[in-house]
Amino acid sequence: MNVRPRRLRRTPVVRSMIRENHVRVDALVMPMFVVARKSDAGPISSMPGISRFTLDQAVAEAQELHSLGVRSVLLFGIPDRKDAIASSNYDPDGIVQRTIGAIKTAVPQAYVIADLCNCEYTDHGHCGIVDEHGDVDNDKTVELLVRTALTYAQAGVDCIAPSDMMDGRVEALRHALDAHGFTGVTIMAYSAKYASAFYGPFREAADSTPRFGDRRSYQMDPPNAREAMREMTLDIEEGADVIMVKPALPYLDIVRMARDTFDVPIAVYNVSGEYSMVQAAIERGWLERERTIDELLVSFVRAGADVIITYFAKEYAKRADTRT
Ligand code: PBG
Repeated sequence: MNVRPRRLRRTPVVRSMIRENHVRVDALVMPMFVVARKSDAGPISSMPGISRFTLDQAVAEAQELHSLGVRSVLLFGIPDRKDAIASSNYDPDGIVQRTIGAIKTAVPQAYVIADLCNCEYTDHGHCGIVDEHGDVDNDKTVELLVRTALTYAQAGVDCIAPSDMMDGRVEALRHALDAHGFTGVTIMAYSAKYASAFYGPFREAADSTPRFGDRRSYQMDPPNAREAMREMTLDIEEGADVIMVKPALPYLDIVRMARDTFDVPIAVYNVSGEYSMVQAAIERGWLERERTIDELLVSFVRAGADVIITYFAKEYAKRADTRT
């Protein structure tokens, strides 16, 4: 036998010498939930290890993350009031707007991303304006998103990440941001966002479960792949700087297809349900913590993702230097 692949697996040194992919801590983004009402802060039972923060806690957390090398956070707001038109979302003094300002003041180098959607702010829990037939009105919703995005930009956000899946929102956002002088604000578009069961724990965390119906009329149908390519093509044409695939694990084929097709950076969102199922198995002793998390995160890199949004970001960064 001339060829023996096992020769290159004999020692840790040779294995690491020929290792093809690595998780970079500076590619990780940590999602954070920030509450307007202090009594809403505290641990999220369906996401062990993750909490909802008050504004002050969020700033302290961003500082700690920064010192660990996780320099980017993705903000989600939990407002103290909800209505049919998500008015607390475009309040210039809203919880996300205030948090953006406070983090940028405390940690000016932090890269602050704001998730842009209405579902945490509407009393019906849908991502947009619901019409008299119970449908989400695309164009009216886009108007609200634009209004909110401008308040985030005004607060000093670095990047806006629309997660609503309305048609034409990237173009509308880019246009409005530029018209108001915010040409430097990045758009990271949730382009291929599927109507997934894996968002379950998030909806508890963000209190955003729809009161009726589901999100299938705007989020993508899980069996579809070509349609994801179409969504990503459109978002790039509309001006997205970064495109995203979400969730991560069940859609790594989509990440690979995107990597082979597009030249823009690709983000992947390792969502709440993916996090919680791993945590649950670790808690039961069924999976080994560090090896499981490492294997998951590197699978995103191997599939072609540049940016990884994950609730594991902090704990991964804490031990990043000690791994062999
Ligand atoms: C808002 C939004 C959701 C997530 C990110 N932005 C929930 C949803 O679409 O229902 C999910 C994130 C996660 O599960 O970690 N629309």
